[in-house]
Amino acid sequence: MGSFDVEKILQQMTLEEKAQMCSGRDFWRTQDVERLGIPKVMMCDGPNGLRKQIGESDALGINESVETVCYPTASAVAASFDTELLRELGEILGEECQAEHVGMLLGPGINMKRSPLCGRNFEYFSEDPYLAGKLGASYIRGLQGKGVAACVKHFACNNQETRRLSGSSWVDERTLREIYLPAFEMAVKEGSVRSVMNAYNAINGTFCAENKRLLTDILREEWGYQGFVVTDWGAVKDRVTGLEAGVDLEMPGSMTGKTEAIMEAVEEGSLSMETLDQAVRNVLAFVKESIDNQRETAIFDREQAHVKSGEFEKECAVLLKNDGILPLSKRKKTAFIGAFAESPRYQGAGSSHINVRHAVSALECLDGWEAVYAKGYDADQEDADEEFLRQAVEIAKNAEAAVIFAGLPEAYETEGCDRDTMKIPAGQNALIEAVAQVQPNTVVVLHGGSPIELPWLAHVRAVLCMYLGGDQVGRAAVDLLCGAANPSGKLAETWPLRLEDNPSFLNFPGEGARVEYREGIFIGYRYYDRKKMAVCFPFGHGLSYTEFAYSGLELDRSQMTEKDCLRVKCRIQNVGKVFGKEAVQLYVGVPHSRVNRAVRELRGFQKIALQPGEEKEVVFELDFRSFAYYETKMNDWFVESGEIEIAVGASSRDIRLTGHVEMVSSMTIPMQYTRYSTVGELMADPAKAAFVHSLFGQEKSEEEIRQEKESDAAMGAGAEKMRRQMMMDMPLSALVSYGRMSEKQLKGLLEELNR
Ligand code: BGC
Repeated sequence: MGSFDVEKILQQMTLEEKAQMCSGRDFWRTQDVERLGIPKVMMCDGPNGLRKQIGESDALGINESVETVCYPTASAVAASFDTELLRELGEILGEECQAEHVGMLLGPGINMKRSPLCGRNFEYFSEDPYLAGKLGASYIRGLQGKGVAACVKHFACNNQETRRLSGSSWVDERTLREIYLPAFEMAVKEGSVRSVMNAYNAINGTFCAENKRLLTDILREEWGYQGFVVTDWGAVKDRVTGLEAGVDLEMPGSMTGKTEAIMEAVEEGSLSMETLDQAVRNVLAFVKESIDNQRETAIFDREQAHVKSGEFEKECAVLLKNDGILPLSKRKKTAFIGAFAESPRYQGAGSSHINVRHAVSALECLDGWEAVYAKGYDADQEDADEEFLRQAVEIAKNAEAAVIFAGLPEAYETEGCDRDTMKIPAGQNALIEAVAQVQPNTVVVLHGGSPIELPWLAHVRAVLCMYLGGDQVGRAAVDLLCGAANPSGKLAETWPLRLEDNPSFLNFPGEGARVEYREGIFIGYRYYDRKKMAVCFPFGHGLSYTEFAYSGLELDRSQMTEKDCLRVKCRIQNVGKVFGKEAVQLYVGVPHSRVNRAVRELRGFQKIALQPGEEKEVVFELDFRSFAYYETKMNDWFVESGEIEIAVGASSRDIRLTGHVEMVSSMTIPMQYTRYSTVGELMADPAKAAFVHSLFGQEKSEEEIRQEKESDAAMGAGAEKMRRQMMMDMPLSALVSYGRMSEKQLKGLLEELNR
């Protein structure tokens, strides 16, 4: 199929052809127009593999897709903290898409993990927008570097499955800008993503598929987005309103009446031809680019990709706890326990589900181990099976160590439903307790795409979390357990002690169709840190079989302006005995901010590989956005003057190095003073402080001072402090109330202040 000139084709298209172009021709392909030589392009689900459906296609996976490789899910790859790994993953997927003639892969999903309960958490990266954005952008660059479009999803505030087609997320502006949009902004600005999928839900009452502010004002005008917008499958409410808002392509196609509705709207003049042309132009540009980039001769080495999937997973697993028992010696008699050791959990259910011939289990990889096995539990049952439990306890008692494979059953993690508990089935918990009682050397391997409550944590010696690790997860687990590989994953989300601690707890999944994000910017570690709460495992946490020493923090300046870039350097040394990788994390804090801010926020990370004894320098560059918050009075990002804390560490709660820089910002917030503006507010603006002094600061007479002292003495020790505070909180209107000026004079004063 040859290439074409988008503008020339557009001129030749009839109204009907244009309207048709705005929907797919079927479930997975864009509309073709034979008359004009416009081919169809196929898109397929991802993001952790290629779900290519052949024949009659459907969303629910009733028809199987082509058998292929399932890579570690987003929940797992996020824990790699490794942008290179994400790029490689994107590249491999790109190769496969090329070989399968797929022009676009529907991923990555970069929504925030607001609650541990979201049913699609396994498809999402993190509770932190910076981490999700950097990893997402890297995956996108990898995939698109192979000539295949990425489609970042689900734009935006799609953080739960309950009422997913009709719910509305109610989010304040600052939270939207600082938490829920930045990962998408990075996908656009750093990843140059070619497609954005609008979410099913509404934001503050307006469906994303009809949200002009989101899809045009912010996405295109503010961020400079050049690609096209596709709906989530079936997300359209009113197609014409959607076109006006900036939705280019409706999927899936062949929906009754949509083409006619568009044509009618143009004919009667309620939809302009320019708006329709722009949508068609965006879709055609995608089709053209896909055709131009298609490599007919591409081949995909599936066997090699399976191997790669396992290698990725070894970089992703997080060693949550280890008191020294791991790595295990293969020569120790070890009881392997748990249904997941035999048939692992490695992906979630729904549109991302990959058809895999075989997922490698841990049991298959125990060559050379002195191992025995018991099933321990029935993966589909909530309660303990007494006979399975008895057998497990029996083999654990007679071994030197026990490794229990546990976690969330398949039915707990699926698109379309949220979890209602953070617990694993009671039967699994009972099993772990029972085994730990008879076997002091008990290790737990966890599977699941989201945090889990661990009531038995103190009774086991080690916990290794595989997340949902793709089709080689069993091999990766065994290699990590015996030390053939060294764990280096870090948590991309906080593991709270219990569900009730999570900041969204009281407002998840909302009431009726309304979910209010009342925790605001304080999601994940931003909340737990401000509240100084104990957590099970903090954001960024993950252990290794070696140790790393942090030293030599250097900031290239002690003072800076908001226009400067700050270079931060430090040195990391592997001071242990084995090769290992460390995800070094940089956090920024603004301790004396005038607004409510997190204690510190992730603003840089790097994964480095070190041989024993080896030391490397790590360099971070911090710019304007690293220090800014979103100031709603300006509808823009704002950097305030004052002290900034730079913290480098091995987790959000294991800070090893800190430094400071003084920000001297030239930015000011345009203030509109009213009669209720306070003395304190005026004093905060250096230009107005002198003015306040002229109003209130007249020399006091000796008599006034004497009276003040007398009344202070009568009112007690806090009186002076109280007087000062009351002064700062005094509204300008009080100048009238207390007879210092007339109403007319106050009016004049406000005019002067606002000039
Ligand atoms: C999901 C998307 C997916 C699409 C196509 C929707 O239900 O929300 O993530 O890409 O279906 O399968």
